[in-house]
Amino acid sequence: YIGKKQAAPILLRGLEKLEYRGYDSAGIAVRENSAPDAKINIVKAKGRLKALLEKTDCGRAVPGLCGIGHTRWATHGEPSELNAHPHCTDDLSVVLVHNGIIENYQEIREKLTKSGYRFYSQTDTEAAVKLIDSYYKQSGEPLTAISQAMLRIRGSYAFAMMFRDFPDSLFVARKDSPLIIGQNGDGCYIASDVPAILDSTRTVYYIGNLEMAQLTAGAVHFYNIDREEIEKEPVQIQWDAESAEKGGYEHFMLKEIHEQPQAVRDTIQSYLNEQGEIDFSAASLDDAFLKQLERIYFVACGSAYHVGVAAQYVLEDLAKIPVRVELASEFRYRDPLVPENTLVVIISQSGETADSLAALRKAKEQGAKTLAIVNVVGSTIAREADYVFYTLAGPEIAVATTKAYSAQLLAVYALAIAFAQDRGQLTDDQAAALVQELESLPGKMERLLEDEERIQWFASKQIAAKDIFFIGRGLDYAISLEGSLKMKEISYIHSEAYAAGELKHGPISLIEPGTLVIAVATIPSLFDKTMANIREVKARGAKVLCLTLESMAQEAGKTADYVLPIPETHPLLQPSLNVIPLQVLAYYAALARGCDVDKPRNLAKSVTVE
Ligand code: F6R
Repeated sequence: YIGKKQAAPILLRGLEKLEYRGYDSAGIAVRENSAPDAKINIVKAKGRLKALLEKTDCGRAVPGLCGIGHTRWATHGEPSELNAHPHCTDDLSVVLVHNGIIENYQEIREKLTKSGYRFYSQTDTEAAVKLIDSYYKQSGEPLTAISQAMLRIRGSYAFAMMFRDFPDSLFVARKDSPLIIGQNGDGCYIASDVPAILDSTRTVYYIGNLEMAQLTAGAVHFYNIDREEIEKEPVQIQWDAESAEKGGYEHFMLKEIHEQPQAVRDTIQSYLNEQGEIDFSAASLDDAFLKQLERIYFVACGSAYHVGVAAQYVLEDLAKIPVRVELASEFRYRDPLVPENTLVVIISQSGETADSLAALRKAKEQGAKTLAIVNVVGSTIAREADYVFYTLAGPEIAVATTKAYSAQLLAVYALAIAFAQDRGQLTDDQAAALVQELESLPGKMERLLEDEERIQWFASKQIAAKDIFFIGRGLDYAISLEGSLKMKEISYIHSEAYAAGELKHGPISLIEPGTLVIAVATIPSLFDKTMANIREVKARGAKVLCLTLESMAQEAGKTADYVLPIPETHPLLQPSLNVIPLQVLAYYAALARGCDVDKPRNLAKSVTVE
């Protein structure tokens, strides 16, 4: 922040708002005043922000109107005060915070060591600040020094910098890591995501790749890497600040689970035209290309990848287009065959996931058309893809995704219906019936959420479980993958998901008396098959909870130990309802085990590094 107000409390508040992303240490640097010889005070603390708040007396102990702050998630070197940011030169001529990874930091470090620089931390960031300083010592000009360093550095970065001799300015530079700049009458703000500054301003500038900016209390100037000034239009953020607050819920995750009906409702509405038909003209999907479309790749990470797994079943069934699903971290490092007339769909809540972004670029390199299903407006993936469908889930704060996942599923359904109609696989009446069914989902989700206590009771009984296996067939398998990920990431109970038919090919040897198996069996044509699997695991001592349709609950109760009935919808849309009890179950299991639900250990909300 740079402006008229005390910087430290603003920095600390901003860091608090981004706490949900996960971190292990934090630090701030604040300039005492704007005299050329004014001190820059740096305070760092390992662990939670609380420690930094205590050390700085909530910011009061570090007065000044200009400063930078950072929470670190260790990539190079252990979490420690020494490795925490800001990093600086010995003479404090440059002070810097960094998100991203400098790939050639060893080589830079060795060269700078030879020319007399000393290094104290194990971080890649320290190489960046000293490299910028070495250029700065030659030119005396920050933008020149930063742009020279940008040419030398390989990797990703969002830098925010203070130069001792430029008391009235902050500087930023960006490549591949998220960075936004906000402005209001009180000053200018730098952040890696909107929630950090939402209570101060909604006027935001997105800074592009390989661009720099100089911020003063009253203005922002943007430059390309050749230091030519460039014009940027500010964007008004529509989110309200409340949507980034807990609103009476104990955790963001529980709040976001309950926001799913609204997220789904908003997302559907955004895809419908006045006649109530799915209309993607806003995304300017090219009709001629769609007519020639021969296959679709879904590429994503984590839960977004699980949406892709569901998408494969839905699109092949409804639109009869061959679909392939890939993990972005794999896709980016192989030589995928992306023939002509292929659409590559990247799914990402944050729009900043490093592997998904790299996969998007790879797909473009191979000549594919790309479509991004993204939640964060203006994010890098949204900007770089040929077409964008936004999900309207609003800000998602809990690390474990829930409402963004549900909104992504919805986007996939809308895509499948539109493609199916386009290719003559669905009549207008059939498409209208499916849209109507989509519109009924939020109400059914609300009904499911009213039954939360039953799941809470079940979760409290199962918290001692050492292992949980999720099984299902078809779309129920896709949802099992997501249920298992939710469970392990927030409750730390070991869990695996298997296609139920795979059990006897290996995993069944892990079943022993007391093992918990959660079977998802909501597809009538596969019900008997899954019941047979339940009998197999029960014969080996497992306890089984079965999620099934209300109409099949009684039958399931003859085989499973516990049954959770789910309202019925069109079979292809059933995952939207099935996922909810699994999210709630993971939430209450984590809560009962005393886990930090919103900020599970070792995880970050936006995985902007590899
Ligand atoms: C799990 C979870 C992650 C993300 C994954 C991709 O609850 O949140 O698995 O789904 O890191 O993130 P985005 O969607 O931001 O690309």
